[in-house]
Amino acid sequence: MAVPEKILREVDTLRQQIEHHNRLYHSQDAPEIPDADFDALLRRLEELEIKHELLNEASPSQRVGGEALAGFTQVRHEIAMLSLNKVFGEADLQSFETRLKKRLETEARIQYSCEPKVDGIAVSLLYTDGELKRAATRGDGVTGEDITHNVRTIGSIPLQLKPKKKNTVVEIRGEIFLDKNGFKKLNETSEKEGGKIFVNPRNTAAGAIRQLDPKKAAKIPLKMYCYSVGLVEGIKLPKTLSEIFTLIEKWGLPVNPDRSVGKGVDACLKYCLELQAKRNDLSYEIDGAVLKVDDLQLQLQLGTNARSPRWAMAYKFPAEEKSTTVLDVEFQVGRTGTITPVARLEPVFVGGVTVSNTTLHNMDEIERLGLRIGDRVIVRRAGDVIPKVVKVIPHEGSKKIGRKPISIPQMCPACASAVVKDGDVLYRCSGGIICPAQRKESIKHFASRSAMDIEGLGNKLIELLVDKEIITSVADIYTLSPGQLASLERMGEKSAANIVAAIHRSKRTSLPRFLFALGIREVGEATALQLATHFGILESIIAADLDSLVQVSDVGPIMAEHIRIFFSNSDNVALIKELQAGGVTWAILEASRDDSAKPLLGETYVLTGTLEQMPRSEAKAKLIALGAKVAGSVSKNTSCVVAGPGAGSKLTKAEELNIKILDEGEFIVHLDDLMT
Ligand code: IVH
Repeated sequence: MAVPEKILREVDTLRQQIEHHNRLYHSQDAPEIPDADFDALLRRLEELEIKHELLNEASPSQRVGGEALAGFTQVRHEIAMLSLNKVFGEADLQSFETRLKKRLETEARIQYSCEPKVDGIAVSLLYTDGELKRAATRGDGVTGEDITHNVRTIGSIPLQLKPKKKNTVVEIRGEIFLDKNGFKKLNETSEKEGGKIFVNPRNTAAGAIRQLDPKKAAKIPLKMYCYSVGLVEGIKLPKTLSEIFTLIEKWGLPVNPDRSVGKGVDACLKYCLELQAKRNDLSYEIDGAVLKVDDLQLQLQLGTNARSPRWAMAYKFPAEEKSTTVLDVEFQVGRTGTITPVARLEPVFVGGVTVSNTTLHNMDEIERLGLRIGDRVIVRRAGDVIPKVVKVIPHEGSKKIGRKPISIPQMCPACASAVVKDGDVLYRCSGGIICPAQRKESIKHFASRSAMDIEGLGNKLIELLVDKEIITSVADIYTLSPGQLASLERMGEKSAANIVAAIHRSKRTSLPRFLFALGIREVGEATALQLATHFGILESIIAADLDSLVQVSDVGPIMAEHIRIFFSNSDNVALIKELQAGGVTWAILEASRDDSAKPLLGETYVLTGTLEQMPRSEAKAKLIALGAKVAGSVSKNTSCVVAGPGAGSKLTKAEELNIKILDEGEFIVHLDDLMT
């Protein structure tokens, strides 16, 4: 019997709707409707398909989950795609050049190619015999994804270089981006059609370039500026980068018109300041300038570190500030029960992203700012740093908004246990293990990349598992079965199996990771490493008293107390036993690695000021891995002080004592040198 037209139409609409929401949820992480509504659509589709025998393989009812990004082919870059070290001002720039001159053993002025640092996605284009054969994302620098199908839709990228080049291979690298106008139009159209509002040009470009369907990528008006060449065969290149730009422009490739060349730091600084001044007038978003030694022979001589070339530097612009309104203040409960006020803001585009909420850290900060709900405030965001409310704009008479004072809740917003004051500034939920928020956060921490590194067990999934009471503690993770996971909404059997496999893999870990994963108060990655190296085995750490704990470098009396409290709680020890019984193991740490791998043995480092490019914990962990001690204060025994912006008395003391001082850029280069 023929299926009524009306049913066919409904099935078609349902399939389209489901595909739409699938994409939002799985690929873009931006669901529009609650899970229950999604399930209702899917159930209705399944019902109609079965009743009217309309089942087919292309239907979303047969898919479970979204369009898998696993559909991309991996591409290995023959020459690694590196990233750039950063400098933040004139002094940093000066020390960059001093380092270059020292390495090159020259006093001669260096010529630089000065370019805008376009805020987009790094890609590689491979032309064989002049024909575009393959385009790939940077990925982790070594392996990226094949995105040829999408790049072919970008009108400004030639499919064929002019003139034809027989027997040649050229790899061109550059930045794919969406310009300001393209972004604006896209959002205007999307808004009219009731579609999604894109957050920023960079993410939109990244999303477009990683579409599986080129028709969708083609709807985003992407552009590209080329900034370097990679692999080259059968072509003789000029001697400088600036000449390469002129050449490849003739071939038909898009290069940035706002580039320039300059001799010495002064010219570079002038370029950077001028670029900064016209930043808002440029048609595309930038987050700084890039300065590269122009002479290719010198580039070769300078070489690269593990992550970045020594001959190039990103000059980052200072933070951007915008004003907005605080709509509300909510309180979030952390892993150890700390209650943190978070401001909900009227969305504002600042420093390259739309900010709609930001942490206020603690109640003291709210008091210091004199903040009330409804206030206009200044929000600052620099580079990749978390946006910050820096000040309240003085009130302008009108009382219409009804500014509301902010007070700490008496009860935990997650479990209604009493909120108690802890120390001078912190407030804590007293619920402990019964608080679902604390449980969720500690499981998230346990599974996170620096801890047990369980791929696929992400924050959303953990929240769902705790809400459904499938897991209540970290030990329960190891009892999860593929069937249990697959029974969750939107979880395919394959994903479920992958997650269980990742859980299984995570069982073989290391003692520092395991210690860090436990989430002991104050114990970060660096301390976990120190504890593990000092004591060697977990049993000794569990048994250690306060006196032996403070022997560990960097463990003070307060931290020692937290460690003691943690291990004297029999529930925690039982949890560790349960995890071990569930199969979690680690190799016994060798007493000490080969000393040749510890070039900083016997040296003491002090970190001071703000580190902007790597978390302090990472800097510490790296130093310790290289054999150094990391101390909290400067003395005549200090070997080196790493001083970031805001460094104060420790820096002065280091200068007085004539101790070696490195800025962050120099420090990163120093680490890279020691590690490679
Ligand atoms: S050169 C070996 N030049 O910045 C040098 N990069 O952190 C590698 N970028 O991944 C890059 N504009 O995505 C270079 N004019 C420019 C750039 C640029 C933007 C991005 C690129 C790279 C990142 C470096």
